[in-house]
Amino acid sequence: MCGIVAYLGRKVAQPILVEGLKRLEYRGYDSAGVALLAGDAIRIKKTSGRISALEAILDEPDSAECLGVGHTRWATHGEPNTANAHPHLDYTGKVAVVHNGIIENYSTLRTWLQTEHVEFASETDTEVIAALIGYFYANGSGLEGSERSDGQNRFEWAVQRAIQELHGTFGLAILCSDFPDMLIGVKRGSPLILGVGDNEYILASDAAAIVEHTTQAIYLSDNEMVTVTSQGFHTKTIDNVTVSKDVKQIEFSLEQIELGGFPYHMLKEIFEQPKALSTCMGGRIDRQNNKIKLGGIASYLRELTRTRRLILTACGTAFHASLVGEFLFEQLARIPAETEYASEFRYRNPIIEDGTVVLSISQSGETLDTLAAVEEAKERGATVLGIVNVVGSSIARATDAGIYLHVGPEIGVASTKAFTAQVTVLTMLAIELGRRKHISSDQADGYISELSQIPDKISQILDQSDHIREIASANVDRDNWLFLGRGFNYPVALEGALKLKEISYIHAEGLPAAEMKHGPIALINDGMPAVFIATSGPQYDKIMGNIAEVKARGGRIIVVATQGDERIERCADHLITIPDAPELLQPMLTVVPLQLLAYHAAVLRGHDVDKPRNLAKSVTVE
Ligand code: AGP
Ligand code: GLU
Repeated sequence: MCGIVAYLGRKVAQPILVEGLKRLEYRGYDSAGVALLAGDAIRIKKTSGRISALEAILDEPDSAECLGVGHTRWATHGEPNTANAHPHLDYTGKVAVVHNGIIENYSTLRTWLQTEHVEFASETDTEVIAALIGYFYANGSGLEGSERSDGQNRFEWAVQRAIQELHGTFGLAILCSDFPDMLIGVKRGSPLILGVGDNEYILASDAAAIVEHTTQAIYLSDNEMVTVTSQGFHTKTIDNVTVSKDVKQIEFSLEQIELGGFPYHMLKEIFEQPKALSTCMGGRIDRQNNKIKLGGIASYLRELTRTRRLILTACGTAFHASLVGEFLFEQLARIPAETEYASEFRYRNPIIEDGTVVLSISQSGETLDTLAAVEEAKERGATVLGIVNVVGSSIARATDAGIYLHVGPEIGVASTKAFTAQVTVLTMLAIELGRRKHISSDQADGYISELSQIPDKISQILDQSDHIREIASANVDRDNWLFLGRGFNYPVALEGALKLKEISYIHAEGLPAAEMKHGPIALINDGMPAVFIATSGPQYDKIMGNIAEVKARGGRIIVVATQGDERIERCADHLITIPDAPELLQPMLTVVPLQLLAYHAAVLRGHDVDKPRNLAKSVTVE
């Protein structure tokens, strides 16, 4: 997600845009830019880096420029460099666009525009929007001059005509040099709010950029647009049907708005997971044909299908996601796979035979150990692919190809939505490889259908946050916890223990449930919290035995179980139930209660959840 700000009014636009972008910088910080309009000349300034880098290149504000658009980027398509920074001009130089969202069919549209001799200056999907508007503006059929017979102006018509071609999500702010008193905003799938001031208007991704100017705002709904002039604003659908919108009072404080009303980014990101995973799968799962499209590694799918060995390498939470991936590749694609801590792999003189493929997983794309493991694998001749969230990051650039998570910036130090998104991508890849090898199309269809239901199932689990807080409260005074799972939920037990450790500072250990009897059961004392993932699956009876072993020694049994399981109620001291799903898809569900358990324990212990002691969001040191 990125930050959009646009201004039309009586004041000088440039400083208002820059201050507004600073309020939105948490939404993305790869690059930043502004486009200002006075008379018929659009002036653009943009650069890679943070807003401070933009400020360093800005000219003195021009008092004649009272209309402008600004953007701070979280790259999804195209490196975070200056050429790909927003605003993007169309090829005629008349239309400037800033965009929040993902255009799924941008490649097709770009190719068509190129057949119409349109040239592009960037790799982004956003420039295609600008080019399409510019194309229809320049070539609009049946339009003479700037007015249509029905009174609609050419600029508005060109925007509406271009929107009809777009698949995907967008929040847009658009200006045209032929209309120095007009700003257009369009919304579908990404937020867009119009602040209504005293003869001035601020269009923005969220109210954080608006509240210092006005607390009156209209909230656009999907497929709506607003045309703003110094005389007022007019809201309509993208099909040109007028809609009336109530002006509402912005209630939140600035701090609350940047957090979307959540107390911490981590909780916001836990609750973002349904939408984040839908975006991650969006454009990659074709439900009509039940096909999976992973464009970023399309040219490596044949090699992946034939590989004799797959090595996954990562650190921390990404390592736990990789472990789920290992099990997925072996179960669905029957590909021998192993997961390595990057910090160990890089120093261990690893064996890399011909045909080995290395898969590196990293939210930040900057973890030094993982980057070094990538370099080590490349030096030994392996094909190295990446699953990364930050576009253009070091690991993304070091690998031969990769798949981006597309879940927006993860700001909380404790990784949450990135974990579930990494597992989602690994699941899509394993299904695709399995489909090319052993599993039938019916089986693949079944898994794709189940995968598509995961976001809704996570939403149901999030509804239990208050219940999970009570469980945390009942156990937060205990200093040693165990997390236990089997099969696909064993890596989730590791992840649950890490979450609790890193933000509540409670010591916790994750392990395969069966390993209890090989030593750790000696730890069990009266009231020691033991968190079991005991959902439906082939090892359910076995884990019930493990629960009994711990209960018999006084442990306090906290269980994540499948909705409707009555047997578990008799042995759980605390029970969290989740919707059922095939075992291999459960990690995206079973991790959510553990994320919330850790979050609530940390808050109850009075810690800064987003900035836990001794930790950094990206470990760029060895
Ligand atoms: C997870 O909550 C931690 N913040 C940490 O273990 C993290 O997963 C690890 O440092 C790897 O980071 P990356 O995914 O950005 O490479
Ligand atoms: N898809 C656009 C880009 O990559 C916008 C990304 C965003 O919304 O952050 O530039």
